[in-house]
Amino acid sequence: MSHVQTTAWFRIRQWIRFCRRAVTRYQIHSPFVFQLTEAVLEDRRFFYAFDEIEWIRREMLGSSQELDVLDFGTGKDRRRRISEITRNAASSPAQGRMLFRLANWLAPRTILELGTSVGIGTMYLRAGNRLATMISLEGCPQTVNIARHNLDRLDLGRHTELLAGPFEETLLPALEKLGSPDMVYIDGNHRKTPTIQYFETCLPLANNNTVFIFDDIHWSPEMEEAWQLVRNHPRVTLTVDLYDIALVFINPDFREKQHFSIVPARRKFWRLM
Ligand SMILES: C[S@@+](CC[C@H](N)C(=O)[O-])C[C@H]1O[C@@H](n2cnc3c(N)ncnc32)[C@H](O)[C@@H]1O
Repeated sequence: MSHVQTTAWFRIRQWIRFCRRAVTRYQIHSPFVFQLTEAVLEDRRFFYAFDEIEWIRREMLGSSQELDVLDFGTGKDRRRRISEITRNAASSPAQGRMLFRLANWLAPRTILELGTSVGIGTMYLRAGNRLATMISLEGCPQTVNIARHNLDRLDLGRHTELLAGPFEETLLPALEKLGSPDMVYIDGNHRKTPTIQYFETCLPLANNNTVFIFDDIHWSPEMEEAWQLVRNHPRVTLTVDLYDIALVFINPDFREKQHFSIVPARRKFWRLM
């Protein structure tokens, strides 16, 4: 079996496993997690920002412009079309809407994103909460320019700082600038060791209300391992796996460590009780 086939099978298996164990709002007893589910998964309201951001995505998907993109795997520049970057790296519309609702419902004062790419996730987070101070980190300077342009077009650039450079160099300065991040979206360098390192670098500055958002935890065996390590971390008190993204809370008020995997009720319509 080729690597592509093995990876595809792995993800299908993970998706089936997730669906089997996932509960819906009808099986949740924790008031906080119930409210979170209502606000982030079950809220089907439409906001104009969704259309505006998706309009920019469509434009980028149709663009033939090429960029010299720094590949963090090889450390070399590679010519890539904006359309290809957008298709492969940007958050999906459904994921973007979840980010928007999270930023809207939790109302963080400070947001840190690791991995801007062309700014789709940044725009959803920022549109969901225009008052927060936000810093987004991206290693490739040319991609940062595209993201900045996109944010400015929707008037979302104010109070959003995009820092170019490897996370290894930009993460600590960003944390120093923000003070204590209320929301940290870790969506770059999807490997076990760096993922854990970024989480542990942020932890000392996190506060009781900080939420960590992890992307692609079911993407590969090593991201699954990273997720298990995060879940079992002694400071973690609550985790919520929504498949596309996973949320981590460290608030000590959640006394007993709990873990939830949740799907929208419409996906498990036969489990209404
Ligand atoms: C999946 S994309 C981010 C998508 C974006 N958060 C969204 O929601 O649309 C990941 C980005 O992280 C960047 N990246 C990966 N490893 C990095 C590193 N070590 N330092 C800086 N940037 C890195 C890549 O260049 C890529 O643009």
